[in-house]
Amino acid sequence: MITINQEVQVNYHYPVVFTEDVFNPENPALAQVLRGKQRKRSPKVVAVLDENVHRLQPSLINRIKSYALAHQFELARKPLVVGGGEAVKGKQAVLDAIYQLVVDERIDRHSYILAIGGGAVLDAVGYAAATAHRGIRLIRMPTTVLSQNDAGIGVKNGVNHLGRKNFLGCFTPPHAVINDYRLLETLEARDRRAGMAEAVKVALIRDRDFFEELYEQRFALARFEAEPMQRMIFRCAELHLNHIRNSGDPFEMGSARPLDFGHWSAHKLEAMSGYRIRHGEAVAIGLALDSLYSFKRRMINERDFERIWTLLSDLGFELSCPELTEMDVLASLEEFREHLGGFLSITLLTGLGSAVEVNEIDATAMKSCVAAITDRHARKLAQHQ
Ligand SMILES: NC(=O)c1ccc[n+]([C@@H]2O[C@H](COP(=O)([O-])OP(=O)(O)OC[C@H]3O[C@@H](n4cnc5c(N)ncnc54)[C@H](O)[C@@H]3O)[C@@H](O)[C@H]2O)c1
Ligand SMILES: [Zn+2]
Repeated sequence: MITINQEVQVNYHYPVVFTEDVFNPENPALAQVLRGKQRKRSPKVVAVLDENVHRLQPSLINRIKSYALAHQFELARKPLVVGGGEAVKGKQAVLDAIYQLVVDERIDRHSYILAIGGGAVLDAVGYAAATAHRGIRLIRMPTTVLSQNDAGIGVKNGVNHLGRKNFLGCFTPPHAVINDYRLLETLEARDRRAGMAEAVKVALIRDRDFFEELYEQRFALARFEAEPMQRMIFRCAELHLNHIRNSGDPFEMGSARPLDFGHWSAHKLEAMSGYRIRHGEAVAIGLALDSLYSFKRRMINERDFERIWTLLSDLGFELSCPELTEMDVLASLEEFREHLGGFLSITLLTGLGSAVEVNEIDATAMKSCVAAITDRHARKLAQHQ
């Protein structure tokens, strides 16, 4: 037997830029990431836009055009507008439209796709960009809180297929991410709030100070005040990026996924609701549930659990939904195990800002946590009536 042990090392670098008013010709952010080091030819860019961003920010297309003129890059025809929200990830026609655009506009591996939209659009466009010509450079411009602080800044892309979420996908880092706070101006309240769940999540598993800040600022955040919102988005994104950079497992080869804290039930609730419940809304419920379980297992104390509940609740999250009582706990854990690739690994809390991976969940204890969460929520609703 002869074996050649092949080893290839690839380093990825990509900037995640925080700015405002990105298409103001005075704003250098986009021009800088487009030019990079290569100054020989003017870059070719094709934009793909979330339909709701397009509808609510109708001047965007003209602003992109003026920006392209001012900075001398070539815009390939007018942007392609695709559906917004989870449905976009289930449509082959959307992928085909992007592939067709790549062919028609002769987009090559040195050109850029500029994806502007929520996490769902970024996931789908990212997948198309990564697979056309085996990879076209992708610039993401996230337009929801959740995509600016989590979904749009990492290395994963994917679409839903055969009834399974993110069944087709790839780990392909973007060329750059540009977070423009102003793009969030047209967001509905629920989409401003949803992304805060990811900030609470990453604070709980990684950073006590950040938890304290969120707790202190919870009413201002619930009112979507700009300054605390911007700080929340930045710190949450930073903690996610730190994890991808330092975990030693950026492409998720192992089973441990600390950033999936609260997500085993969240994924299930989202799917059960036919995606009526947003990802972040489901994550908030999942966080409450797994925090309660951590408390019941004596891993965190009661006061910590109560503060987590208060934070989520004061941010305005509904901490239960009809699907929660209908959820089959065992089957959902089993599905999550499959999703992880074989071994069950669930993140639980050992404190505010610290977490541990466990490989077993006591389904009976978890079911009583589900019942307790539902009860609490019902009592809260009754109080407010
Ligand atoms: N790739 C990853 O690492 C990763 C991580 C977490 C979540 N995700 C995925 O992200 C998706 C959720 O993303 P999301 O929470 O951004 O929701 P979303 O993309 O579904 O957007 C929610 C709604 O807001 C609309 N919208 C977007 N920007 C808007 C704006 N500025 N003004 C008004 N409306 C706007 C969208 O059209 C949609 O209707 C899920 O598919 C989830 O699986 C991906
Ligand atoms: Zn998430």
